[in-house]
Amino acid sequence: MTNITPFKKLNEIDFDFYFDTKNIFDEFDMGIIIINENGQIIYSNELYQMIFEDSSNQGSIFDSSYDKALFTGYKNKKSVEGYILKNYKNQKVYAKIKPLYKNSKFKGVIGIYELKEEENIIKIEKFKTQIKKNIKLKKEFKKIIGENKELKKILFMAQKVSKTNSTIMIKGESGTGKELLSNAIHNASDRNEEPFISINCSAIPKDLMESEFFGYEKGAFTGANKRKIGKFEYANKGTIFLDEIGDMPLELQTKLLRVLQEREIERVGGNETIKIDLRIIAATNRDLEQMVKNKEFREDLYYRLNVIPMNLPSLKERKEDIPLLVEHFNKELSKKYDLKKIKLTNDSLNMFINYSWPGNIRELQNIIERLLVLNEGEEISIKDLPQELSNIYEYQNHKEIDDIINIKLNGVMPTFKEYEKEIIKKAMKKYKTCNKAAKALGLTNKTVSAKVQKYNIEYK
Ligand SMILES: Nc1ncnc2c1ncn2[C@@H]1O[C@H](COP(=O)(O)OP(=O)(O)O)[C@@H](O)[C@H]1O
Ligand SMILES: [Mg+2]
Repeated sequence: MTNITPFKKLNEIDFDFYFDTKNIFDEFDMGIIIINENGQIIYSNELYQMIFEDSSNQGSIFDSSYDKALFTGYKNKKSVEGYILKNYKNQKVYAKIKPLYKNSKFKGVIGIYELKEEENIIKIEKFKTQIKKNIKLKKEFKKIIGENKELKKILFMAQKVSKTNSTIMIKGESGTGKELLSNAIHNASDRNEEPFISINCSAIPKDLMESEFFGYEKGAFTGANKRKIGKFEYANKGTIFLDEIGDMPLELQTKLLRVLQEREIERVGGNETIKIDLRIIAATNRDLEQMVKNKEFREDLYYRLNVIPMNLPSLKERKEDIPLLVEHFNKELSKKYDLKKIKLTNDSLNMFINYSWPGNIRELQNIIERLLVLNEGEEISIKDLPQELSNIYEYQNHKEIDDIINIKLNGVMPTFKEYEKEIIKKAMKKYKTCNKAAKALGLTNKTVSAKVQKYNIEYK
């Protein structure tokens, strides 16, 4: 990165002369903007204009479109430094705002914006080449998209154990691919010609669970007018996937434990035992260890199921996979619905990367599907994104600035008034008198005492 020391002498330069004659700063690989004491833009270089998509090179800092770090620096006549959320071509933007003085008179601010590569902002191209390296995974597991190290470890482990009969426990938030993974394990196993039966324990009413699982004999209860085969029997020789195992009632846990130990079942109302040969994969998004401690989940069953544990990372823990997944669903779903692929702008893609994804990959898939259907073939800019994504952007933008001026307001978006109040409050707490606080803030004594009164700030 270019050293910024040369700008230290800026306050001695006659700006008008310089900028009318030559755009010296266009040579540097930093965005640069200069604001005069009245808040008017007197200069911005090419890179600045590109980062902030503003080519007017005029206007004032009071226009909402300008960077808040710059505004803060101008307002407080102080240096401000830190990442702003605005991204440029998948790079983070690091802002340094410095006040400019000439003969100790405030003359405005200069903003310098460096582009920095950050770990979680990774270019799609990088991954495309990495994908090619994954020749070692079988096709069943290659369908599970992602380059995250944790995920890759799990996939290799899953591939290894797919040939065995070991019971597997997959943990992970909803939508992280638990069912997809167990399906891949089944397909890569020798049982792949046999059924893969998936049961969601939270979806079956408690009193129907036993008969759903194990079936019943004719006359087992009122309404049982013929024999019914249960899911375990259906799955014989294949794989059974017990989703949301944490929601299984204790009574049934006892029965399941017996099935695991004896490898046989009994239909409800019957006395015949039926041998079954099953691979069992259980999944949960609940904290089973805690449930065991609370006696909500049988400890012995827990150990029986937890033979090979796999923890699927949530999507926010594998942000580097977001561009890949976006591309994957864009391609797959456009093909499926015979639609033209959408194109995300860099800014939009960054919103995807910065969002927290509570619904994980399922949520991402749904959003891509929605965007595809509504905006076939079009370029998706920030304004086209669903609200939940853009809200987060606003919030995070503020959060970053919060960090810069070191103010946290319960995670809520503060207004400038609130910022101002908080700044004065902090200063008064630290310096005790308006005079000292004013000096520290670069304001007049009069201004500070007026603000203290206005905001009713107690400081003694
Ligand atoms: N790594 C992945 N690559 C591609 N699609 C995925 C991936 N993980 C999950 N999905 C898709 O996301 C959706 C949710 O996955 P699922 O296995 O049902 O999650 P869970 O069982 O953990 O709730 C499914 O449509 C699945 O195909
Ligand atoms: Mg699921």
